[in-house]
Order: sequence, then structure tokens, then C-alpha cells
Amino acid sequence: GMLVHRYWGKRLFAPEDYPPTLHSEGWASFNGPGQTLPEEYPAYGGLKYIDPCLKVSFADGVRDSDLAFQSASMSDRDHGEHLVIELHDRAYPLQVRLHYRVHAQHDILERWVEIANLDDHPVTLERAWSAQWHLPQGGSYRMEHLAGRWLDESQVISEMLTQGIKTLESRRITTSHHHNPWFAVDQGSANEDQGDVWFGVLAWSGNWKLSAEVTDFGSTRINLGLNDWDFAWRLVPGETVITPSSFAGYTNAGYGGASRTLHDFIRDRVLPHGHKLHPILYNSWEATQFDVEETSQARLAELAARIGVELFVVDDGWFHRRNSDHTGLGDWWPDEDKFPHGLSPLIERVNALGMDFGLWIEPEMVNPDSDLYRTHPDWVIHFPTRPRSEARNQLILNLARTDVQEYLLEKIDALLSQHNITFIKWDMNRNVSEPGWPDAPGDPRELWVRYVQGLYRVWGFLRQRHPDVTWQSCSGGGGRADLGILCLADQIWESDNTEATARLRIQEGFSLVFPANTMEAWVTDANREKISLDFRFHVSMCGSLGVGGDLSRWSGEDLKKAAHWIALYKELRPVIQLGDQFRLRSALENRFSAVQYLSKDRQEGVLFAFRTHLPEPVQLPTLTLRGLEPQARYEVEGIADVRSGLSWME
Ligand code: DGJ
Repeated sequence: GMLVHRYWGKRLFAPEDYPPTLHSEGWASFNGPGQTLPEEYPAYGGLKYIDPCLKVSFADGVRDSDLAFQSASMSDRDHGEHLVIELHDRAYPLQVRLHYRVHAQHDILERWVEIANLDDHPVTLERAWSAQWHLPQGGSYRMEHLAGRWLDESQVISEMLTQGIKTLESRRITTSHHHNPWFAVDQGSANEDQGDVWFGVLAWSGNWKLSAEVTDFGSTRINLGLNDWDFAWRLVPGETVITPSSFAGYTNAGYGGASRTLHDFIRDRVLPHGHKLHPILYNSWEATQFDVEETSQARLAELAARIGVELFVVDDGWFHRRNSDHTGLGDWWPDEDKFPHGLSPLIERVNALGMDFGLWIEPEMVNPDSDLYRTHPDWVIHFPTRPRSEARNQLILNLARTDVQEYLLEKIDALLSQHNITFIKWDMNRNVSEPGWPDAPGDPRELWVRYVQGLYRVWGFLRQRHPDVTWQSCSGGGGRADLGILCLADQIWESDNTEATARLRIQEGFSLVFPANTMEAWVTDANREKISLDFRFHVSMCGSLGVGGDLSRWSGEDLKKAAHWIALYKELRPVIQLGDQFRLRSALENRFSAVQYLSKDRQEGVLFAFRTHLPEPVQLPTLTLRGLEPQARYEVEGIADVRSGLSWME
């Protein structure tokens, strides 16, 4: 009566090739079969001490579930044909539907779960994960994951999994400064080019949890889903909850193969326009901070246009009373002193220079010193008896509330309808505290999920209303980088750390999951005394190139160089943004790292090689290119410059 997992890995051609069905009565008096068998979607109940996917409390106080297989069928609901396995609790009318969709073209499996309360009484969900991914029995596994913090995102960690549970999570209401909901696992010997790698993600932009368990009996499984920390969902009679999707895959082409599979999948299936090339943007944040006004922005725009920029983005500081980070968030209309005639004169100037115009917003936030907060102090996430802890002088609007959603829809829709804006950078600069929702209609702990659903609703509606706008997801850099947000955002601002050598490591970690076209990367003035402008350009050219330095301080020579690299990037852009990426030498251990891009038709490639901390005299290691057509002859350009002009940080 227990639904047991059989196999996940290299494709097998016949049913008889699958490992045998396992049977077990358990082991001694201490372990039931739930402990010794790889149950596909275990619920907490019976003699089970593994980390379960589902935890339910029934109205009569029973906190034990007993799921039995009911049926398996193909469904073509929810965008395409897929398998649905239905489980029912043996004593209560609780239905659990496990969905499995094969994305055959990408060799990716998608799983999500629907939980329906068919009873007359409410039940409380205390955990509802999307999937338990079972690794082949008997192996010993190494897990790679991404860790970090603000200014230091996407640092690669690799560690052996041993008996017990390794947990990664977010409790911050956003996704990924500290850990990313991604894993890759191998048996200790895979490398960039070869070896068995199992990998997966959760497509969700709020609290999530990954629990990698090696059981007492040596079975390894990786759970992914909504975080159960402070979570509860009151499932009323007739209600169904649907979890976010978890996507996973297997490859024998190593870590490089795993990330190329994800890159293709994200471009082809996740992003709204995954094959549209991103324009080269200029962003004013590092140049002007809050000191944004028409004349100085117009001056920067002229310089940006001169070097070949295609999109001019005004960052923070443009809206009502936004002179520092103490005021203004929530009041989304142009500041009357800085823009006495509104934003249109600047936008027209930018357009006349041949560039599109973009704008920064941070819709989910409010400063207590704002008209919005003075009018609606109850709209923020808070507990009435507790202080409202400010971070960067701001509080979080409760996007689970429909009135908050409606306010944001109206304000942002008006901004986009009244101006010729083609790009929005959507920022979020703090994490949650005192997670209260005083007049919640259900369990206030539904906040964690309903907030993200509210965010998706607002963003989705705006996207639909303004289909020509490109959207960037930013949360103080890479705080919201995940496949959920990439259904709405076209690209990600991956870190506020724009120092080029630090960036190499951050970019490498990011590339394990995300394709280069989603990685917005600016050339700035960070560490300009030590790092040449050429080097800074090359690092940013590895993604979607942007410029963020103070162009008014750049010399004529700098502007000339910038124009040169931007013109070259425009030629290389299709290969970099849409091609296959190969990490030839890691920036994590090497002072000479390299990354290669190859067009899908294998006609053209681009190689970046970075020499960071190798002083003269130096003997550079050989780089072996990947993926080239063995019969073809390729013409090599540009490499001579590197050989002759090589100096530290070239
Ligand atoms: C954090 C972002 O990551 C920066 O790029 C910038 O937009 C600031 N916020 C503005 O407040």
C-alpha cells in the first residue's frame, strides 16, 4: 500500500532494466517500512522518522496521515499532458495528487502537488513540499549548492552528504542572498565535463526549504518545497492548495552539462522571451545615488549614448521626496522639485539620443515617512503589540492583502501608461521581521505563501498590460534569483558587488543555474585604481552587458575604450547571451580562469580568459576549447592582443 520510488538516473530502455521493487517490513522494533523503503511522497504518520513531505492536522486533533495509492492517469490539464498519481488518506477525505511532467526536449522532470480537502471540516497543513527526489540507492553523494550574503552571493559550496539532514532555506520572504533553491549532486567524481550529476530547483520566490537526507539505511533523498518554518495553511472544506513546481534532471555530462541543460530550459520554457537579446543599459545608481535630477541625468545620458548604450535607466531617487533612503518609498510619482515637469522631458531627451528609457521601483516597500504610510499604517506586515523593526528605514507592505495589490497595480500601471518606459528594475531591499497579518482571513501564517502569490499577481498583471516592457528582478542584488521570478522577470541583477574580480566568482556560481542572458552585469568604477577598464568590461561582457560607472569622471580615452568594447559586445552578444556556456577554468581556485561561449550552430564562439593575481614572469596554462565541430576549421581573432598586452589584471 505504499507508493515506492523505483529509479531516477540514466535513461533505461526496458521496464525490466529497472531495479527490482523493494519490499520491507521494516527493521527490528525501531524502524517501520517508511524508514527502510524510499517512499515517493511520504506524509508524516505511522512508524516514520525520515523527513516527510507532508504534515497535516485534522479537525479532530489527529496529526498522523496515512496515504494510500488510489490511481494513476494521464491528464492534459495545466499546460500539457502529464502523469497524475492520486493518493488518499485511508481514514479522512484528504486527496493528494502528485503531478509529473516530462519536458522531453530538455530532459527535465517537473513535479508539483495538489492537496485537496474533501471533508466538511477544515484541516491544517503544516508542511506541503513539492517533491522528494530520490537518488539511486546505495550511493554516497556529494552536494553542490550556492551560499552567500548581500554583496557576496552565489558562492559555490561542495560537501559530502552523510547520515542526517542538511538543510538550506530562506525564512526571509524572498529567495536567494543566502542560499539558492538549487542543488546538484554527484558521487564524488564528476567534474565540469563528465560524470553523473543529478540536479534540481524550486521555482518559488519566497520562503523555501531544501532538506537533503541520508537515512539511517543509507538512502539519499532531496526534498524541495515551501518552507514549513512558521508555516500553516488552513485548508477549508473543498479547498485545494497547489505547491510550486520543482524541476530536476540527470546528466552524465558533469556539472557543465547540468548547467547547460538548465540554461536551455530556462531560456526555452521559463523566461517570457528567452531568446530576445538584451540591450546594453546604463544605470545611474553608482554615479548619482539619490542625487537624481533632470540636468545631471541628461548629461549622463548624452555620454551613455556616445559610447553606444541602448537603454538609459534611472535608478533610485526619482520619486516623491526621495532624497535619501529615509523617505518616499510608497509614493510612486516623480519628485516635484527634481522633475518639475515630470519625467517626460528627460525621457524625450533620452529617446532623442536614440536610447530607450527605464526606471527603478521598489513596490513592496514603504518608508514610515511617506504619504502612503501616513494614510495606511495598517498595510505593513506587523504584529500590533510589537515594534515594527525598520531595515534601511523601511517596512514591508503586506502583498497578501488585495487592497495593497490594487494600490500598486494602479500606481505602476499609471507610471507605465503615462510614460514611454520600456524597462523596469524591480527592487526589494530588506527581509521580513515581525511577520504578522492582524486581520488575515485564514491562518495568519499563510502570509508566507499569499505574499508571494500577491507579488506574482501584481507583476503578472503589469506584464500583461505592458507587454513591451523588460523587467529586471533585483533584491539588493541577487536576493530574488529563482525560476519562479524568471516567469515574470527577463533578467536578474545578481549582486551589488560590482568589483570585477569578486564578480568573477559570483558570476561563476550564478552560471551553475542561470543562463548568461539573465545575468545583468555593469562595468563600474569599483576598484578602478587597480583593475583596468578593459578587464572590467570583459568581466561584464560575460553576461548581459551594462555600464554603471560615473561617466562624467571617465576620461576621453576611457569613453573611447568603452565605445570599442560595447561595439564588439554588440557583435558577440547573440553567442554570449544565447549560446552554450563552458566553464573552462574555475575562478574559485584559479588565478587564471576562463569561460567559453559557443553558438548553438557551433559556427562561432567567444573565449574570455582572466588573469587575476599572477604576476610576471608567468607561464599561462593551456586552455582546451569545448564543443567545437571536430571537422571544422575555426578562425581565431583577438587572441594576439591578450598575448602581447598581458599584464596583471588584463
Ligand atoms: C539596491 C540595488 O541592488 C542597487 O542596484 C540600487 O538599485 C539600490 N538598491 C537603490 O536603492
